[in-house]
Amino acid sequence: MRTPIIAGNWKLNKTIGEAKSFAEEFKPLVAGVTGVDTLLCPVFTALAATSEALQGSSVAVGAQDMYWKDSGAYTGEVSPPFLKDAGATYVILGHSERRGRFGVPEPDLEGHAGAVFGDSDQSVHKKLHAALAAGLIPIVCCGETLTERQNGHTDAVVENQVVVATAGLTAEQAAALIIAYEPVWAIGTGETCEADEADRVCGIIRATVGAGFGAAAADGVRVQYGGSVKPDNAADLLGRPNIDGALVGGASLKADSFAAIVKAAAQ
Ligand code: PGA
Repeated sequence: MRTPIIAGNWKLNKTIGEAKSFAEEFKPLVAGVTGVDTLLCPVFTALAATSEALQGSSVAVGAQDMYWKDSGAYTGEVSPPFLKDAGATYVILGHSERRGRFGVPEPDLEGHAGAVFGDSDQSVHKKLHAALAAGLIPIVCCGETLTERQNGHTDAVVENQVVVATAGLTAEQAAALIIAYEPVWAIGTGETCEADEADRVCGIIRATVGAGFGAAAADGVRVQYGGSVKPDNAADLLGRPNIDGALVGGASLKADSFAAIVKAAAQ
């Protein structure tokens, strides 16, 4: 039986003060809720304060990205030892907002953040291995763009992202992995992927892990859905056999709505 996992991705939101207030409000709302793993992913600068403010609760803290080298001449980067130093136990890798999408040759500073930040399947692969080596729990994101979906490439895109990211893992590492299926067109748009379709693609992710690492890995890997998850659609999504949790953006910014999603997962 897989324990559901609900992660709040705050993206570029919440100062240290706002993160602390959230933690104080959120802790009592989920106190006593069991059978679900819960974590919050603040901005780097608020990691330590959030982790401290969540002491005494079972809510963990994760980072939104990392570099794969531990230290050195990498201006602007943050790496596993520094994340752990700040209290993070999880790290999100390869979020679509950090991936460069093919077909965007020049950074367009307004329209294509991905082209500026530039994660690729290969960099996600390197980050995944570095996170595991450091003892961080990675959440690997995958998902197709609207164009890829319209062209019928959803399954192939997602399979390829998972295969490249997970290459070289052991079966045990694959079994303990968390993969978030986040259709890019459903992120921050209010457009949720229909639950049957989300479950189908999450099943493909599970099968891809199974093909690479065996039945026990397919059974163990936890697959989250992400993209406009809210209190009113969480139970439907989380009730599907291949959906083991949610990666929540907008609805994680308010303590009551995030707590409602955590409680839906616990049921
Ligand atoms: P959203 O974001 O819930 O605001 O759609 C999800 C995500 O990007 O992880």
